[in-house]
Amino acid sequence: MRGKLIVAEGPDGSGKSTNVSVLAEALRKTGREVVVTREPGGTPFAEKIRALVLAGDKDDPVDPQVETILMFAARAQHMNKVILPALLAGKFVISDRFIDSTYAYQGYGRSELTLVEELDELVLAGFEPDYTLFFDVTLEESERRIKARQGQAADRFDNEVSDFRKRVYEGYQARYRECGYRMHRINGMQPPGNVEAEVLKWVNETFFP
Ligand code: TYD
Repeated sequence: MRGKLIVAEGPDGSGKSTNVSVLAEALRKTGREVVVTREPGGTPFAEKIRALVLAGDKDDPVDPQVETILMFAARAQHMNKVILPALLAGKFVISDRFIDSTYAYQGYGRSELTLVEELDELVLAGFEPDYTLFFDVTLEESERRIKARQGQAADRFDNEVSDFRKRVYEGYQARYRECGYRMHRINGMQPPGNVEAEVLKWVNETFFP
């Protein structure tokens, strides 16, 4: 049986990364084989692309089209080398970010929506995650959390100003409206323990009804 791809999505500071571990542990406890991965990245070469894109170049700002193409280049490598083989082997794959991040950050944030749609068609050709947990926090809360952790290795996206973040936020809401059939919204504004409990409840209801 083909495995399942579960993706954690949400703006920076939404708490998704912590919950990727919660999700993985819950599924492993039931004896399933689970591969935990992330985007951009997930393979040694795709991680090199990640490092390039997140660092940028202060003397030569990355062109939005190039940024978008690199996100998909990393994704193609990740899909072919990690995600598809694991799914074919019947494993669960949990990815910290996937296609909805590109719609939100490059499509809406960088106004490259048409290019994102075209590359989605080319690279994923209709492939979608089986489930997407969308960690939803307000723009204000996400800004507050990013500020609180600044100083700890902020990347290029962490340093973006509010306007960009606002578009990213709207991008996620638009994706949720369009792809609600595969996206489960988690209220990321609750205390961390409650968010975790909601994730575990979702795992039980979805996989062990
Ligand atoms: P993230 O995975 O959230 O890592 P960290 O928790 O270390 O900040 O950060 C990766 C950044 O890459 C994040 O700001 C969003 C951005 N990104 C895109 O712009 N487009 C994409 O397609 C993906 C997958 C990520």
